[in-house]
Amino acid sequence: MNEKIYVPPIKIQGIKTKLVNFISDAICLNEDTKWYEPFMGSGVVGLNLAPTNAVFSDTNPYVIEFYNEIKRGKITSGRVREYLEKEGKLLEERDDKHYYYIRDRFNEKHDSLDFLFLNRSCFNGMIRFNRDYKFNVPYGHKPKRFAKAYVTKIVNQVKYLEKIFPENNWEFKCQSFEQTIKEATEGDFIYCDPPYIGRHVDYYDSWDEVQEMKLRDELFASGAKFMLSTWEENQYRRNKYIETVWDGCYKLNIEHFYHIGAKEKNRNAMIEALLLNYDPKKVFDTLD
Ligand SMILES: C[S@@+](CC[C@H](N)C(=O)[O-])C[C@H]1O[C@@H](n2cnc3c(N)ncnc32)[C@H](O)[C@@H]1O
Repeated sequence: MNEKIYVPPIKIQGIKTKLVNFISDAICLNEDTKWYEPFMGSGVVGLNLAPTNAVFSDTNPYVIEFYNEIKRGKITSGRVREYLEKEGKLLEERDDKHYYYIRDRFNEKHDSLDFLFLNRSCFNGMIRFNRDYKFNVPYGHKPKRFAKAYVTKIVNQVKYLEKIFPENNWEFKCQSFEQTIKEATEGDFIYCDPPYIGRHVDYYDSWDEVQEMKLRDELFASGAKFMLSTWEENQYRRNKYIETVWDGCYKLNIEHFYHIGAKEKNRNAMIEALLLNYDPKKVFDTLD
């Protein structure tokens, strides 16, 4: 797959936009394959592969609600434009006061458009909650964030979903990975992109060895084909769990650069890994 990558309206740390081609080249889906993505985040992988039948899930209720509201027609591209033009103008006038006003409002009412606003104007496009599950990412300090071209870009991202949702049989569920993987059976495909073990520190989404082992056991018990995204190494450390927890899986690697802020010197090289329970060479052979 080397077509233009569709970028979803929701951003998240660890988003796989730049790895979609690498990931999809090792996946072979046919008409009947049901796609399961238990850690959907932005959903960029499955939304680009666009299988006919899919279950996307995540424990973040606001991501799931956002996609469900587009599916139900409650959020439309027209409403997104109207909302972002209005709130974007107020952000330009009131700067951080407006950002924190929307953040308080979101933490009280959980409106999906407020979630989109925060996601696109907060610091580094992060999604993070405190122990009381209140969104706590500070302001990105760009009062002109919602300039006309940027609003149009987001509106088009939503427009694309409005078009493809009715063409496919896709469910969006707020649930933990165990529940989603239990729904999958032989003949299905599960793509997992959990918080990276040994790297991800978050107040809410803690991810440790116990979770990683539970994930492995559920994946093997499902009988489905699976692929897991994880990290292999950077200049300082290696992911020891590849040899322990995931021993016996097939593996593909690629180098990827994570950017922290806009400065070139803040590019961090990382070797990414895909772990699979099937031989990816067989998929590449079918493409020759
Ligand atoms: C690395 S992000 C996924 C990024 C996604 N592949 C993308 O490209 O946008 C990991 C996701 O796992 C979710 N998550 C954390 N713990 C979870 C759990 N126990 N079950 C399901 N999802 C979980 C987080 O909310 C987050 O959205």
